[in-house]
Amino acid sequence: MTAVRYLHELAMAFFVGGQLVLVAAVVPIARGSDQMRPMARRFAYGTLVALGVLVITGSIMASHFHRWSDGTLHAKLALVVLAGVLVGIHIARPANRALDGIIFVISLTIVWLGVALAH
Ligand code: HEM
Repeated sequence: MTAVRYLHELAMAFFVGGQLVLVAAVVPIARGSDQMRPMARRFAYGTLVALGVLVITGSIMASHFHRWSDGTLHAKLALVVLAGVLVGIHIARPANRALDGIIFVISLTIVWLGVALAH
């Protein structure tokens, strides 16, 4: 189970840590430059892979720890679905800046619920 939790937290680090770096270091400097859109698009595709890893490793942990009937997990899964849909919309409509902020706040909330769930 350590390897599963390791992958879950690594994928979380890419998804949430990547947003933190974009917000703190990349967007303030590269906003409007030619590099901004390809950088954001690469991160978005990496995010879809990370979400896939989170769903697979999260499901293994939810089964192993018998958490499928846990309300905290249900709330977390609802936010994960919402985050996934918004990332998809954001890939289709990259100019919508408000989505960045909404996805960021949802991601931080998912991490909180994950830590609250953890053994
Ligand atoms: C954006 C998506 C997700 C993020 C950022 C995320 C993040 C986290 C974090 C930070 C933890 C705490 C790990 C620890 O302290 O050991 C955690 C635990 C957990 N996550 Fe996720 N998670 C995500 C998606 C999922 C999904 C989709 C599932 C289920 C299908 C899931 C199921 C779990 C379970 C069951 C635990 C608790 C494991 C235990 O009991 O120790 N997670 N998650």
